[in-house]
Amino acid sequence: MENFDFFNPTRIIFGKDTIGKLSVLVPAKSRVLVCYGGGSIFKNGVYDQVMLALKGFAVAEFGGIEANPQLGTCEKAVLAAHAHRADFLLAVGGGSVADAVKLIAASSGTPGVPAWDLVLDSTKMTAALPFGVVLTLPATGSEMNNGSVISRIDPIDKRAWGNPLVHPLFSILDPATTLSLPPRQVANGIVDTWMHICEQYLTTDNNSPVQNRFAESLLRTVREEGPLAMANPENLAVRANLMWAATMGLNGIIGVGVVADWSSHVIGHELTALYGVDHGRSLAVVFPGVLTLCRVSKRAKLLRYAREVWGLTDADENVLMDKAIEQTILFFESLGVPTTLRGCGIPSEAADIVADRIAEKGWMLGEGKDIGPKEVRQILIARS
Ligand code: NZQ
Ligand code: ZN
Repeated sequence: MENFDFFNPTRIIFGKDTIGKLSVLVPAKSRVLVCYGGGSIFKNGVYDQVMLALKGFAVAEFGGIEANPQLGTCEKAVLAAHAHRADFLLAVGGGSVADAVKLIAASSGTPGVPAWDLVLDSTKMTAALPFGVVLTLPATGSEMNNGSVISRIDPIDKRAWGNPLVHPLFSILDPATTLSLPPRQVANGIVDTWMHICEQYLTTDNNSPVQNRFAESLLRTVREEGPLAMANPENLAVRANLMWAATMGLNGIIGVGVVADWSSHVIGHELTALYGVDHGRSLAVVFPGVLTLCRVSKRAKLLRYAREVWGLTDADENVLMDKAIEQTILFFESLGVPTTLRGCGIPSEAADIVADRIAEKGWMLGEGKDIGPKEVRQILIARS
């Protein structure tokens, strides 16, 4: 295991009917900017619960944060925060709202530095407004990490960034808020959760049995609960298990001391930036290609994944690896998530275009930094 320094300051309030606790979680006398997305919170009653809990605070609102939040929207929200003299931000929604609020917090706390510069180099941050999250979509882990992903249109890009200053102060995880999710978003969230776990687990084996078994327990939970959530969408207990699995998948715990491979995410972000494909769907396309390409470097972990996650028992190791990749594809497809470019309506030229963009950025991906433009092209051609 590698050395590590782990600190996660986010307080988690989990369970049904917990949104009312905002009244004590938000620091007294705060001037709050409540940030939200395209309006789902008005339909499912979350907005009303939030506003009731914030009675007595000076509250202003900023709505319209889109899925894959845009730089320009965050910049407008910074102006709204300034106009309200907000000293606390509240994200109410999915990962996109939480991610946007992280940039709004950073940019409000670091005036004079353009927001995109903070995304490209978050060490330029000097301070951030404190913020909390009311999560309505289990997927990204943004509610308990200090990462964020921001998109922009001109020039087109989608970039991950992070800084310890943008850890949420608290996050409220009420699984009842997720009952209104459309099946497509439930499925996207299951795939995203799966991928966060896999990208910290399915790399090189560096003798980290605690992390391995944490990751396997999460994957097995998602494998069981995911299909149950799709089949019985009203089952709150299932929603609760999925929600906690998603948070645990990317709050740092399973990633300590191990080597990560975020190549599927990086390539997926390019596909989303260029073609607007949902984040979860982009990952379902790329990941089987990464596993196939990296069978040799990931051999030990791929075999573990086959046996411990999928329960496969074949004696032939090559068969085990093939079957593990096949099971992964079948799992994603069983949730209604396509696993090919064509299935997502993305033209096959994407392979060249994305490879060229990775070349321009000079990125080498994978735990061994051995996935460059040529390999990216190969991965996407295999998934066309
Ligand atoms: O905008 P509203 O109207 O709220 O609708 C949203 C949106 O259309 C809807 N939704 C959310 N909660 C709902 C709901 N609809 C009904 N009922 C509810 N309870 O779902 C749609 C998608 O929401 P979004 O927030 O975009 O989804 P998600 O949570 O999957 O977030 C995706 C974003 O997170 C980034 C992705 O790249 C993408 O931009 N990620 C952030 C990470 C992080 N911060 O650590 C890591 C992830 O790997 C990921 O990259
Ligand atoms: Zn993700």
